[in-house]
Amino acid sequence: MSQTWKKVAVAIATAGLFATSLAACSSERETPPAATGGATDAATDAANGGGGLIGIAMPTKALERWNRDGSHLVELLEAAGFETSLQYADNKTDQQISQIENMINDGAKVLVIASIDGTTLGPVLEQAAAKDVKVIAYDRLINETPNVDYYATFDNYKVGQLQGQFIEDALGLKDGKGPFNFEPFAGSPDDNNAKFYFQGAWDILKQYVDSGKLVVPSGKAPATDDAWKNIGILGWGSDDAQSEMENRLNSFYGGDTKVEVVLSPNDSLALGIAQALTGAGYKAGEGWPVLTGQDADQANVLNMLAGKQSMTVWKDTRALGDAVAKMVEEITSGKEVTTNDNETYNNNVKVVPTLLLDPLVVTPDTVEKDLVDSGFYKASDLGL
Ligand code: BGC
Repeated sequence: MSQTWKKVAVAIATAGLFATSLAACSSERETPPAATGGATDAATDAANGGGGLIGIAMPTKALERWNRDGSHLVELLEAAGFETSLQYADNKTDQQISQIENMINDGAKVLVIASIDGTTLGPVLEQAAAKDVKVIAYDRLINETPNVDYYATFDNYKVGQLQGQFIEDALGLKDGKGPFNFEPFAGSPDDNNAKFYFQGAWDILKQYVDSGKLVVPSGKAPATDDAWKNIGILGWGSDDAQSEMENRLNSFYGGDTKVEVVLSPNDSLALGIAQALTGAGYKAGEGWPVLTGQDADQANVLNMLAGKQSMTVWKDTRALGDAVAKMVEEITSGKEVTTNDNETYNNNVKVVPTLLLDPLVVTPDTVEKDLVDSGFYKASDLGL
């Protein structure tokens, strides 16, 4: 990390600028480009490529993490002398495309895009390329186009692996324990990441389904990695996950048949699944199933502390923001862009140079050490 970026990161951490009460907001309208941060002096601007507009396209405000991602990027980039246009698209592909079009027309130098459907942006990114606007795919890869320059993400396959391993360890599957009643869920079929999450988990868990140690009463166990879309929850909605879990509980469980483990790929799904379990009479500490998640959203961390979620895979959005802001600075000042995986992420047209970060498992026992001591949450946010 350059001295400038170290200073920026420290300043932001010290100022406690990470909003912790990021309640879902229904309005997803455009935010006009914000004025350049006043605190930045000309020398810093020059060191960072002289400022300019950076477009940030995020999928939706309805999930806590994207609010966190967006505001963190804006803070970092503005502190470094850039203007920003941060926009949320209500999970609607067309809306995201027109927002990106506007950013290009407004003269953005770099676009940072967390895509909704990574296969639909080809035409608008042709417009970007025609104006020499560089594109960073943020968290989610953009597929089927040559016009994506870099990708920054956490290791998505590893996220799923960590969930699978957690289940394996929690149930003692390696020691031959079982059978356990198991319900798997997968993420949004239009999200490229969802495939990696499922593959990572399934590469560990499928053997136990095959051997009968994990029994799936609903029958919703994909026969292959590729069949994961059949159990995907479109748009990652908590409500849809809740209805799906309610259906499974009503149709396949009851009496002595209890669900003992649920693979949830992320926290928004885990929240809905936990609601359904509560509604069906499951109680924390008394046969509540092992339940996985991802993102360390506040409501889920509270659920973990209340015994209603077993783990979450934490992807520190501050680290991702830091890495992407550094990429923007490198691109705009003509420096070599930092990546660490130039082989894995093929978007069906090219291998996209990638900066890969490591996710971390957080359990109720490590919430304080990982999430509070690191400043991600204040103890009071979590009732600690
Ligand atoms: C992200 C996850 C997030 C999910 C739903 C995925 O692409 O990587 O962190 O939970 O989208 O928004």
